[in-house]
Amino acid sequence: MSKVAMLFASREGQTQKIVERMRLIVTRAGHEVDLIHLEGPVTKVRLEHYDAFVLGSSVRYGRHHDYFCRFVEQNTTVLNSKPCYFFSVNLTARKANRSEPHQNSYLTKYLRYGSLRPDSVEVFAGAFKLSRYGFFQKQLLSLILKVSDGTAAPSEDREFTDWCRVIRFAERFVQQLGDEARGCQRHISKQLVYA
Ligand SMILES: Cc1cc2nc3c(=O)[nH]c(=O)nc-3n(C[C@H](O)[C@H](O)[C@H](O)COP(=O)(O)O)c2cc1C
Repeated sequence: MSKVAMLFASREGQTQKIVERMRLIVTRAGHEVDLIHLEGPVTKVRLEHYDAFVLGSSVRYGRHHDYFCRFVEQNTTVLNSKPCYFFSVNLTARKANRSEPHQNSYLTKYLRYGSLRPDSVEVFAGAFKLSRYGFFQKQLLSLILKVSDGTAAPSEDREFTDWCRVIRFAERFVQQLGDEARGCQRHISKQLVYA
């Protein structure tokens, strides 16, 4: 059994919903999971107590959350030294030609300019939560949807997340934990380079 930390940053709850779905799959496979919400400037987490990590953040105003980025940069040595999966959640990823990690510029830029070297990465389309937005946010989100594929903003809350894809990502992670336990060599894409 491995001890896993799932560290995430979420504002309207979609990234949290995704890690909770992943936790279910990973715990069912017999592993112990702690969910850690990175929502403040100082989050003391004893990462050395964990065997593997899942990291996830949503995108707001073109960037992953500051608290999340800062935490990752302060802890890259330990995060890079163990199995580590990273995913990004954004609305642009709902577009077919932005839905793969190498096509999603939020993800590619994050990896290119940051020091995190995950074993595996994913991008998930997030949710449009009209009922939770103020006036300014509604305008901004409508603009993002329009600019990215010319569609009008939905008139109600709408979830774009592909849950089968979330499950596959979690299963891949479980598979890697199993490989680690059997002493298989880590076949890492640490050299993942996103041009
Ligand atoms: C204020 C605001 C800014 C956002 N900015 C972006 C953006 O720049 N690009 C994008 O693709 N999605 C953007 N989104 C969409 C979010 O990434 C999406 O709604 C996601 O599901 C939010 O996840 P969370 O609930 O875990 O925070 C934005 C959403 C809000 C509310």
